[in-house]
Amino acid sequence: MKALHVAIIMDGNGRWATGRGLPRVAGHRSGADALRRTIEAAPSAGVGALTFYAFSSDNWKRPVEEVGALMRLFEQYLVNEVDECVRKGVRISFIGRRDRLPASVVRLMALSEARTRHNTTLHVRIAIDYSSRDALVEAARQVGPHATREAIAAALPAPDV
Ligand code: FPP
Repeated sequence: MKALHVAIIMDGNGRWATGRGLPRVAGHRSGADALRRTIEAAPSAGVGALTFYAFSSDNWKRPVEEVGALMRLFEQYLVNEVDECVRKGVRISFIGRRDRLPASVVRLMALSEARTRHNTTLHVRIAIDYSSRDALVEAARQVGPHATREAIAAALPAPDV
Protein backbone atom coordinates (compact mmCIF):
# COMPACT_ATOMS: atom_id res chain seq x y z
CA MET A 1 0.00 0.00 0.00
CA LYS A 2 1.24 3.48 -0.82
CA ALA A 3 2.02 5.47 2.30
CA LEU A 4 -0.31 8.37 3.01
CA HIS A 5 0.61 12.00 3.54
CA VAL A 6 -1.64 13.63 6.14
CA ALA A 7 -1.57 17.37 6.77
CA ILE A 8 -2.87 18.76 10.05
CA ILE A 9 -3.72 22.37 10.80
CA MET A 10 -3.20 22.91 14.52
CA ASP A 11 -6.20 25.07 15.24
CA GLY A 12 -8.58 25.60 18.15
CA ASN A 13 -5.95 25.36 20.91
CA GLY A 14 -6.95 28.72 22.36
CA ARG A 15 -10.68 27.96 22.31
CA TRP A 16 -10.06 24.51 23.81
CA ALA A 17 -8.18 26.10 26.73
CA THR A 18 -10.46 29.07 27.38
CA GLY A 19 -13.46 26.73 27.28
CA ARG A 20 -11.87 24.96 30.24
CA GLY A 21 -10.99 28.15 32.08
CA LEU A 22 -7.28 27.71 31.25
CA PRO A 23 -4.81 30.17 29.69
CA ARG A 24 -4.38 29.87 25.92
CA VAL A 25 -0.85 28.56 26.34
CA ALA A 26 -2.27 25.48 28.12
CA GLY A 27 -4.10 24.76 24.85
CA HIS A 28 -0.83 25.01 22.93
CA ARG A 29 0.83 22.64 25.40
CA SER A 30 -2.00 20.20 24.92
CA GLY A 31 -1.60 20.66 21.14
CA ALA A 32 2.05 19.65 21.46
CA ASP A 33 0.96 16.48 23.32
CA ALA A 34 -1.49 15.74 20.50
CA LEU A 35 1.38 16.15 18.04
CA ARG A 36 3.41 13.57 19.98
CA ARG A 37 0.51 11.08 20.04
CA THR A 38 -0.16 11.56 16.33
CA ILE A 39 3.48 10.87 15.45
CA GLU A 40 3.37 7.77 17.62
CA ALA A 41 0.21 6.43 15.92
CA ALA A 42 1.00 7.35 12.30
CA PRO A 43 3.25 4.50 11.08
CA SER A 44 0.82 1.73 12.05
CA ALA A 45 -2.00 3.68 10.36
CA GLY A 46 -0.17 3.57 7.01
CA VAL A 47 0.92 7.20 7.20
CA GLY A 48 4.37 7.88 5.72
CA ALA A 49 4.37 11.66 5.99
CA LEU A 50 2.75 14.11 8.37
CA THR A 51 2.75 17.86 7.89
CA PHE A 52 1.85 19.98 10.92
CA TYR A 53 0.99 23.61 10.36
CA ALA A 54 2.21 24.88 13.73
CA PHE A 55 2.87 28.62 13.26
CA SER A 56 1.78 30.57 10.22
CA SER A 57 3.45 33.77 9.08
CA ASP A 58 0.25 35.56 10.13
CA ASN A 59 0.71 34.33 13.71
CA TRP A 60 3.39 37.00 14.28
CA LYS A 61 0.45 39.37 14.80
CA ARG A 62 -0.46 37.59 18.05
CA PRO A 63 0.42 39.13 21.43
CA VAL A 64 4.15 39.06 22.05
CA GLU A 65 3.68 36.90 25.18
CA GLU A 66 1.83 34.23 23.22
CA VAL A 67 4.43 34.22 20.42
CA GLY A 68 7.17 33.91 23.07
CA ALA A 69 5.36 31.02 24.74
CA LEU A 70 5.01 29.24 21.39
CA MET A 71 8.71 29.69 20.60
CA ARG A 72 9.61 28.24 24.02
CA LEU A 73 7.24 25.34 23.36
CA PHE A 74 8.93 24.61 20.00
CA GLU A 75 12.30 24.63 21.77
CA GLN A 76 11.16 22.35 24.58
CA TYR A 77 9.49 19.99 22.15
CA LEU A 78 12.60 19.66 20.03
CA VAL A 79 14.87 19.24 23.06
CA ASN A 80 12.60 16.55 24.57
CA GLU A 81 11.42 14.62 21.52
CA VAL A 82 14.30 14.33 19.08
CA ASP A 83 16.01 11.37 20.81
CA GLU A 84 12.73 9.45 20.58
CA CYS A 85 12.43 10.35 16.88
CA VAL A 86 15.97 9.10 16.29
CA ARG A 87 15.07 5.81 18.03
CA LYS A 88 11.81 5.37 16.13
CA GLY A 89 13.22 6.19 12.68
CA VAL A 90 11.23 9.40 12.36
CA ARG A 91 12.65 12.09 10.10
CA ILE A 92 11.92 15.69 11.09
CA SER A 93 12.10 18.61 8.70
CA PHE A 94 10.73 22.12 8.61
CA ILE A 95 9.16 24.36 6.02
CA GLY A 96 8.87 28.12 6.30
CA ARG A 97 11.10 31.11 6.87
CA ARG A 98 13.87 30.85 9.44
CA ASP A 99 15.23 34.38 9.36
CA ARG A 100 12.62 35.78 11.80
CA LEU A 101 12.79 32.97 14.38
CA PRO A 102 14.90 33.09 17.57
CA ALA A 103 18.43 31.78 16.89
CA SER A 104 18.00 29.11 19.59
CA VAL A 105 14.95 27.69 17.77
CA VAL A 106 16.71 27.78 14.39
CA ARG A 107 19.70 25.92 15.88
CA LEU A 108 17.46 23.19 17.32
CA MET A 109 15.57 22.88 14.03
CA ALA A 110 18.81 22.38 12.10
CA LEU A 111 20.09 19.90 14.68
CA SER A 112 16.83 17.91 14.60
CA GLU A 113 16.94 17.78 10.80
CA ALA A 114 20.58 16.68 10.79
CA ARG A 115 20.09 13.99 13.44
CA THR A 116 17.04 12.46 11.73
CA ARG A 117 17.97 13.04 8.07
CA HIS A 118 18.37 9.35 7.15
CA ASN A 119 15.27 8.08 8.95
CA THR A 120 12.57 6.48 6.81
CA THR A 121 9.75 5.18 9.05
CA LEU A 122 7.84 8.47 9.00
CA HIS A 123 8.59 11.93 7.67
CA VAL A 124 7.29 14.66 9.99
CA ARG A 125 7.31 18.13 8.48
CA ILE A 126 6.58 21.06 10.74
CA ALA A 127 5.52 24.34 9.15
CA ILE A 128 6.81 27.27 11.21
CA ASP A 129 6.62 30.85 9.92
CA TYR A 130 5.10 29.31 6.80
CA SER A 131 2.62 30.99 4.51
CA SER A 132 1.07 29.10 1.61
CA ARG A 133 0.54 32.42 -0.19
CA ASP A 134 4.23 33.27 0.13
CA ALA A 135 5.10 29.74 -1.04
CA LEU A 136 2.89 30.19 -4.11
CA VAL A 137 4.46 33.57 -4.89
CA GLU A 138 7.94 32.05 -4.55
CA ALA A 139 7.00 29.08 -6.77
CA ALA A 140 5.54 31.42 -9.40
CA ARG A 141 8.75 33.49 -9.37
CA GLN A 142 10.87 30.35 -9.81
CA VAL A 143 8.75 28.98 -12.63
CA GLY A 144 8.44 32.24 -14.54
CA PRO A 145 5.85 33.36 -17.06
CA HIS A 146 5.32 29.96 -18.75
CA ALA A 147 3.85 28.34 -15.65
CA THR A 148 2.15 24.94 -15.81
CA ARG A 149 0.37 23.12 -13.01
CA GLU A 150 3.17 20.52 -12.94
CA ALA A 151 5.93 23.15 -12.74
CA ILE A 152 4.16 25.00 -9.91
CA ALA A 153 3.60 21.71 -8.07
CA ALA A 154 7.28 20.80 -8.44
CA ALA A 155 8.33 24.20 -7.06
CA LEU A 156 6.19 23.87 -3.91
CA PRO A 157 7.58 22.08 -0.85
CA ALA A 158 6.44 18.43 -0.98
CA PRO A 159 7.33 15.71 1.50
CA ASP A 160 9.24 12.50 0.74
CA VAL A 161 6.80 9.72 1.52
C1 FPP B 1 -3.69 27.58 16.57
O1 FPP B 1 -4.67 27.54 17.59
C2 FPP B 1 -2.43 27.03 17.06
C3 FPP B 1 -1.24 27.68 17.04
C4 FPP B 1 -1.05 29.03 16.50
C5 FPP B 1 -0.03 27.04 17.61
C6 FPP B 1 0.10 25.54 17.39
C7 FPP B 1 1.42 25.07 17.86
C8 FPP B 1 1.60 24.19 18.86
C9 FPP B 1 0.54 23.51 19.59
C10 FPP B 1 2.99 23.84 19.27
C11 FPP B 1 3.31 22.48 18.76
C12 FPP B 1 4.70 22.15 18.90
C13 FPP B 1 5.55 21.93 17.87
C14 FPP B 1 6.94 21.52 18.15
C15 FPP B 1 5.17 22.07 16.44
P1 FPP B 1 -5.35 28.89 18.00
O2 FPP B 1 -4.51 29.53 19.04
O3 FPP B 1 -5.56 29.72 16.76
O4 FPP B 1 -6.69 28.47 18.58
P2 FPP B 1 -8.04 29.30 18.47
O5 FPP B 1 -8.43 29.24 17.02
O6 FPP B 1 -8.93 28.55 19.36
O7 FPP B 1 -7.75 30.69 18.94
